[in-house]
Formats: sequence, structure tokens, C-alpha cells
Amino acid sequence: MRTPVIEREELFAKGTGESTDIVQKEMYAFTDKGGERITLRPEATPSMVRAFVEHALEQDLPCAKLYSLGPMFRYERPQKGRYRQFHQLDVEVFGIADPAVDAEVIEMACALLSALGIDAELVINSVGCEACRPRFSEALIAALGERVGELCGDCQRRATTNPLRIFDCKVPADQPIIDGLPHSEDFLCDACRDHFAGVKSHLDAYAIPYRLSHRLVRGLDYYTRTTFEMLGTGLGAQNALLGGGRYDHLVKRLGGPDRPGIGFAAGLERLVLALPEAAGEAEAADAFVVALGETAWPAARLLTRDLRRAGLATLIDYEGRSAKSQMKRANRSGVRHMLILGDDELASNQVTVKTMETGHQQSVSREALADHLRAAETD
Ligand code: HAM
Repeated sequence: MRTPVIEREELFAKGTGESTDIVQKEMYAFTDKGGERITLRPEATPSMVRAFVEHALEQDLPCAKLYSLGPMFRYERPQKGRYRQFHQLDVEVFGIADPAVDAEVIEMACALLSALGIDAELVINSVGCEACRPRFSEALIAALGERVGELCGDCQRRATTNPLRIFDCKVPADQPIIDGLPHSEDFLCDACRDHFAGVKSHLDAYAIPYRLSHRLVRGLDYYTRTTFEMLGTGLGAQNALLGGGRYDHLVKRLGGPDRPGIGFAAGLERLVLALPEAAGEAEAADAFVVALGETAWPAARLLTRDLRRAGLATLIDYEGRSAKSQMKRANRSGVRHMLILGDDELASNQVTVKTMETGHQQSVSREALADHLRAAETD
């Protein structure tokens, strides 16, 4: 799904939440020519839900599994891994409450990172639902008691608007007080506790290791039950490669039917920072076509086109350089095969294939060439 970069400001006030830092401090919101309040989107989830509701997708897709890619904008202090314009890969599932889908979504996030060769730690928590959350908020306020006044200004505001947000605080002086606060897991209702136990047992079945963290409330207001993040190593303070969770009331809240949802978003710039060194090296092409003599050039260009169409990355030289200088370039390009086309090859409809590693040369018919090169690749 591709949603617009600009949305109404109220979508995020309602979706992401009035009490979040994103809405309070980080949105690029402005009044447009028609007098309407609009904003560059700070995240994808409310837009995905808006589109799902607006187009009544639940009718065609009772269980919708969607993804989106694109730029997001947050007015934050730029530093390594944190930018004002960044890109998210966003994954959302609408319509399934079963904990098996939570584990499936998390498994997919793990598979993505492992395919990229990135090591990461999975952290999970459950923040409860609309039934048990109020009890937890009350317990937080009660535990804070008089000490609210010792917290930073943001936390004092959070204590009145949304006490859960206090766990987002990074101010060092506040940490000893926050560390002593109650844990959401101890306040879950029976249904939320069963759900969380289900998520954990599905993760165990996938043999996915995780760490429980009661502080993982995540900085967005729509979450219910499962929240999770995957943390990278060596990234400094901005170590969340991806984060997500369940949001069972958001679709209804944004005017849709009562449908649960779950998803995550990965920060593409952070994934790139976390990629292993070798992943930055460009892969060499499959073959380099060398034309011997004037007359071979047109056929060499057609051969290059045909191999590219057959899915083989193929290089060729320009400006009619000498055979010697083409071969030098072929050598430097790191390709596995040099394909030589001269008068003899043209006459017999063959190509001389030189395997660079061994220096071995053989004639291969034009028709069999693409298959021959592909087979050599899997050797
Ligand atoms: P989020 O945790 O705010 O969640 O962002 C997800 C990911 O986006 C982060 O883990 C990080 O990799 C990346 N990210 C966030 N801010 C920045 C930034 N300023 N610069 C670079 N990367 C950044 C969400 O956005 C939710 N919509 C995720 C979700 C989807 N929950 C349910 N479905």
C-alpha cells in the first residue's frame, strides 16, 4: 500500500495519540492554502488504518496483510541513526486477534534481519488493554505519590495525561524513581495474561529467544497487549532497528469496524547502519562481452541485450576500444566470464567463453549460452 506523505493533522492526534512526543513535539504540521491543518506523516500506521477504513477493505480482505515503504518525518534532534526525514518498511495485519499472528509477525521481523545478516535482540512486553490499563495507570500514580514533583517537566505532564508515557523518559535523574514503578505484566486482566502467554509459547515453538522488559511501553498511544522491539548492537543510543505491537482499538477509533491489528516498522537507515561490512560491496556482474574487430560490435550489443533480458547482469565496453583494452576492463570488473565475439564466432553462431578464475576457454552456441552461464554460477 502506498499512502500519501501528507495527511490531516488530526489523524495522528487521534491515532498516534495526543500525549505522545511525536504529536506534541515532532510533527511537521502547518496550515495549507485552504486553511486546513495538515502534516508530513511521522509514521505509517494511522495512514494504513485510514486507507483500510476509507476503502472498506475489510469486506474484501477480512484478514489483510499489508506492507508499505516510504519516507517519514519527525522534528527530532538529528544524530547517528536519527534523522528528520527517514524511511520505514511498515508491515500491518488487520483482522486477527490470535496470539499466533503476533508470533508470526515477530518471526517475520526476525527473518528479515537474519536474511540481512544483522544480529539483534528481541525485547517484548504486554501493555494490557482498555479493560486493565486504567488499573495499571492508577497503580503508577499511587506508586509515584509525592515523588511526581521530583520528576522532569515532561514526566509531570505525562503523569496527568498518560502515566504510561513516563516509561519513555530518558532523563538520567528520573531513572531511579522510574525503576521502582510497578510492572504492567502484574496488572494484566485474565484475557490479556492468556494472550501474552500464548505469544510467548508460540515464540518458544519457533525457538526465537526474547527478553522481557516491563519498560517497553513504546512511544505511541494505540498499543494494546503485545509490544516488541528488535535492538541492534553497535548503533549507540538509537539502537531500535524496528518496533511494533498490537493495536486492537485503532481501526474502530479511526471510524472503522471493530477489527484488531498488529504490525511493526523498521527504520531503513538503521538497517543500513547495522548491515555487516561485506554487504556494502557491490556484486560483480555475470559476464563481460568483448568485441574483436569493427564488425563484431553490433552483434556484441545484441548479445548483451539478450543476456540481460535472460536475467544475467552483462557488461560491454563503449567507444570502439581495442580488444586489449576491453579485456583489461573485463579483468578489472571482477566478472566470472568474458564472452568473446569475433569473425570466427559470428560465422559459427558461437561465443568463446573464458572463465576468468581458471583461464579455461570453450566455445558455446549462442542458444545455449544463457543456460551455460547460469549453470556455471551455481557450480
Ligand atoms: P516507531 O518505534 O516510532 O514505531 O518507529 C519504528 C522504527 O522507525 C524505529 O525502530 C526506528 O528504526 C525507525 N525510526 C523512528 N524514528 C526515526 C528517526 N527519527 N530516524 C531514523 N529512524 C527512525 C512506529 O513508527 C510504528 N508505526 C510501528 C508500528 C507499526 N506499530 C504497529 N505497526
